[in-house]
Parts: sequence; C-alpha cells; structure tokens
Amino acid sequence: MRRTPIVLAALAGSAALVLAGCSGSDSADSGSGESRTLRLAINQTEDYPSTIALNSFGERLDAATDGRWAIDVYANEQLGAQAEALQLVSDGAVDLAIVAGPQLENLNKDFVVFNLPGVFESDEHEMAVVNDEEITGDLYSSLEDQNITVIGGFTAGMRGVYTKEGPIMTPADLAGMKIRVQETDTMVRMIELMGATATPMAFGEVYTALQSGVIDGAENAEPSYTTQKHNEVAKYYSYTNHLINSDYLVINTDLLASMSDEDKELFRAEWDATLVEYMELWDQSIEDAIAAAEASGVTFTIPDNAAFAEALAPLAAETITNDVQQKLYDDAKALAK
Ligand code: GCU
Repeated sequence: MRRTPIVLAALAGSAALVLAGCSGSDSADSGSGESRTLRLAINQTEDYPSTIALNSFGERLDAATDGRWAIDVYANEQLGAQAEALQLVSDGAVDLAIVAGPQLENLNKDFVVFNLPGVFESDEHEMAVVNDEEITGDLYSSLEDQNITVIGGFTAGMRGVYTKEGPIMTPADLAGMKIRVQETDTMVRMIELMGATATPMAFGEVYTALQSGVIDGAENAEPSYTTQKHNEVAKYYSYTNHLINSDYLVINTDLLASMSDEDKELFRAEWDATLVEYMELWDQSIEDAIAAAEASGVTFTIPDNAAFAEALAPLAAETITNDVQQKLYDDAKALAK
C-alpha cells in the first residue's frame, strides 16, 4: 500500500531546517511486504522531459516491485533548489534528486571533467559516457562517505546564451553583460572567458533576475529556456554551443543499501528504461521549445562559434589537475564517434 508523503507546503523556504530532523522516506520495511514511497526532488517544471520520464520511472518501479517501492516526484524546486536538495539527500531527508554536474563538482572536484566545454560532442555522446559504468563507477561511488550515490545521468543539452539585448555574435558582444551561471568556479570562469561577467545563482531565481534586470542574460538549452519562460524576458538566443551539461540522479546511499538485491536490480532495469524514454522526449522537447520561442518573438542567431571555442580553449587545461580527471577526460573523448 502506498503511503501519503508528508505535506510539503510548510517546508517551502526552510526545507533544510525542517527536514533535517525527520527520518528519510516512509519508514516501512520493504522486506516486510509494506511499501515505501520515495521523495524525488527536481528543479524542472512538470512538463520538462526528465520530470515526465521520472514520473513514469516511479510508476514502473511500483509495478515491477509489486508496490514495494514507489516514487513521488516533486517538481519546481518544491523540496529546495539543487544545492539544498543535494544536502537533503545526504541527510536522508529526501531520498532522490536530480542535480546538475556543477553541484557534484562542489563535493568532489573530479566531477568537473563532465562540466567542461568541449568534452561531449553531442547529447548522445554525453548519454553514453555518463551512463557507462566502466568510466563512471569509481566517480559515482566517490560520494558515499557523504551518503550520496550517483545512479546515472541525463543530458541537459547543448547550451546557448540568451540575453535581453542582442544579438550576441562574438565574445565582445558579451562585454559588460551580467550572465547567470550555475554555482561553481568553473562556470564562473567559463562565462568570463566568453567575455561576460558571471552572476552565479540557483535556477529558480533566474526568471525574476532577468525580469528585474539584475542580470542581462543566462545560458541554457532550449527546453529549459522555454519551460522556465525565460523567453518571455530575454528575446535573443545565440547558439554559442559552449557546453553540454549533465544532470544526475542521486540517491541516499543508506536507502539504496536497504533495498534487497532483487529490488536493486529492478530499480536499475527501470532506470535504464527511463533513459530510453527520456531521450525520446528530449529530442521532441527541443523542437517544441524552438517553436514556442519563435512564436513568442525570439530571435535565434548563429554566432561566431570559432571565436567562442577559441576563447574557451584554455579552460580544460586550467581545470584538469590530476590523473583521475585526466583519465575521465580521455575515456569520455574516446567514446566520441
Ligand atoms: C538545466 C539542467 C538543470 C540545471 C539548469 C541550470 O536546466 O537540466 O539541472 O539546474 O540547467 O542552469 O541551473
């Protein structure tokens, strides 16, 4: 029998404090024939491809395990922005979360390799690398001392820069502009090399920051641009193609360990099916996003990509500082077709 999750409205704004004292998921023992409904935090909207694919992941897991494990997906940062959600997974207050690569880089610097411009050549290449156990096995278990296990990843797509004033054709066009980036030094350095000034902030704050003029622009792939409605307030989208970003499914390590071997296998199999469903939805979501943006009067431009690539060239060499990172980089590159 599925249990009702805790009421979350009261948690808004102070999720970490309120949840820190709670036990993790519903406390029934899956081995005793009772069910557990896991809480999964994501910062995307309900209609974003990963939210949709994760909802079906939960339904299929529920069916495959005869109701022993189910998942409730909390979209739109309801359980906190990614940094908080990650902390809550570590604490065991939230069971699962989707977090972008830069968040994991803040816990183990080796994750930085998959956050670098130029590492992935396409969304498909990225999906192959971040879901290849031989490449990622040690990396994904490296956070277990913090009670976090990485299960695998979704591509978050090739990113462009979008601005209130435009079009952006060269790095010089970004001079003096404040561009929002994800909250890591690497992302700050990346946008500086591209010619702009960096403003790190959480995803959910970007719309208001754009609208009020606190920032002049941001950078993301088309589906995030339109599902977050940033196209309403920043009408110039430039295909700078500077980065393919990764999103990861993370789970509380103790929780994963509490699953029977059979249920762990079912979990893994349903996750693999989720990756397939995600990619089908993903390609369609890019088309839908472009159509929606065009209908809202957005100007798409193809800038001087060589100039941006040249500006970003130093970043990988500056950033990769140990053998583990170098091997991850070489393994990723070797998988490119
Ligand atoms: C993408 C990605 C998110 C990330 C966001 C961001 O939308 O899928 O996980 O949080 O970019 O720029 O913050």
